Amino acid sequence: MAGKRYLDFFGGIVTVGLGHCEPRVVAAIEKQIKTLQHVSTLFPTEPLVALAERVCELFPGERPAKAFFTNSGTEAIETAILTARIHTQRSEVIALRHGYHGRSMLAMSMTAHSPWRLGGVQDPSIRHARAPYCYRCPLKLSYPSCGVACAEDVEDVIKTTTSGRPAAFIAEPIMGVGGFITPPKEYPGRVAEIVRRHEGLYIADEVQTGWGRTGGTWFGIEQYGVKPDIVVGAKSLGNGVPIGLTMARAAVADSWKGSTIATFGGNPVTAAAAKTVIDVIESDGLVQNAATTGGHFRQRLEGLREKHAVVGDVRGMGMMQALELVKDRETKEPAPERATAVLEAAKDQGLIIGKGGLYGNVLRISPALNVTPADADQAADLLDAAFAATAG
Ligand SMILES: Cc1ncc(COP(=O)(O)O)c(C=O)c1O
Repeated sequence: MAGKRYLDFFGGIVTVGLGHCEPRVVAAIEKQIKTLQHVSTLFPTEPLVALAERVCELFPGERPAKAFFTNSGTEAIETAILTARIHTQRSEVIALRHGYHGRSMLAMSMTAHSPWRLGGVQDPSIRHARAPYCYRCPLKLSYPSCGVACAEDVEDVIKTTTSGRPAAFIAEPIMGVGGFITPPKEYPGRVAEIVRRHEGLYIADEVQTGWGRTGGTWFGIEQYGVKPDIVVGAKSLGNGVPIGLTMARAAVADSWKGSTIATFGGNPVTAAAAKTVIDVIESDGLVQNAATTGGHFRQRLEGLREKHAVVGDVRGMGMMQALELVKDRETKEPAPERATAVLEAAKDQGLIIGKGGLYGNVLRISPALNVTPADADQAADLLDAAFAATAG
C-alpha cells in the first residue's frame, strides 16, 4: 500500500537474504550490466568463473566440487537428479513425504504435497519415505525414545518399492514448504548410511536452507554432519535475481559426457550479483548473525507459544523459524483459518510472514540474515499483537 512501511520477515519466499535492494548487490548488477549482459555459457565469463570457484570452495561435501548454473531451483533439481542418474546408471529416487522440490514434472513427482502435484502424470521412478516430522510423527512415536525409527523407513522403501538399486535420496535439510519440518539431529546421518549402503547418492536440496539461513553454517546439511554428494541451491543465492545452482563432488560431476546447456545459466549479471551476495554474507558475518539473532528471535517465539494456546509447535533453525497452529494441543487438530487470520492481521500491522505446511496451518518466518535483535523484537511484538487481535 502506498506510503505504508513493512517489516519483511518472509523475504519473497526465503529469497531476499540480504534485504531488499542491498546496495552492494545493486552496484554489482549495475556495473556488470554496463560491461556485458549475456553471451551464454558458450563463453565462460569472468563473473561466471569467479562464482563457480567461490561456490565450489563452500561445497559441504567432499571437495573438489564442480558447479552448473541454471535459472531456478526447479531446473537445478532437474540437473541434480539427471546427474545422479548419469553417474549411477540407475533411475530410482527416494524423496520424502511433505517435501517440495519445484514445478517441473520430475520435481512435482518428488514433491509430496497433493496441492502441488498437478497434472496427474508422474515420474514412475520416484518413491517417497515417511517424513521426520516429529510434531506429527508418522509412526506415532516420540523423540528421542523413538530411536529415530523414521530413518529406517528409507531402507524399507528401498527394499520393498525399488529394484534395490536407488540412484539417489533427496531431501531438504529443513522441509520448507512442508512447514519448516526440522528433522532430529540423527536423521540425515542414518539415512545417508542406508542410502550409501545401497550405493545411491545423497542430494541435499538447499534451495531454502542454503547460504547461512540455518545459522552457524553455510548449508543446512552441515548442521547434521552429513557430506552430500550433490547440493542444489537457488533463492537467496541471488537475493532476488533468478538463479539455480547444482554442485556435485567432482567424480560425480565428471560423469556427464554428453552436451547440455542452459542459455541463461551463469549469466554474467546474475553471476556478479550472486558472487556479491556470498561476499556480503561473509564480510558482514551473517552466517553467525543468523545463529545469534535467530536464537534471540527463537526465544521470543517460544514466549509466544507460552502465551497463545494456538501455537502447538515452534521449530526451525537460525533465520528459518515456524509456528504450527492447532485448535487443541492434545488432538493437534490443525488451525489453518487462524494461520490465515494471523498472517493477514500481521500484514495489516506492517509485518510480512509466510504460511505453509500440508494443512496450511504453519506460519513460516524467514527474515533477512542481517536483521538486528531490535528488528526481531519488533516482529515478535507485531506477531503477538496479531495473535491477540485474532483470538476468540
Ligand atoms: C526446497 C525447494 N526446492 C526447490 C524449489 C523450486 O525452486 P523454484 O521455485 O526456484 O523453481 C523450491 C521453491 O520453493 C524449494 O523450496
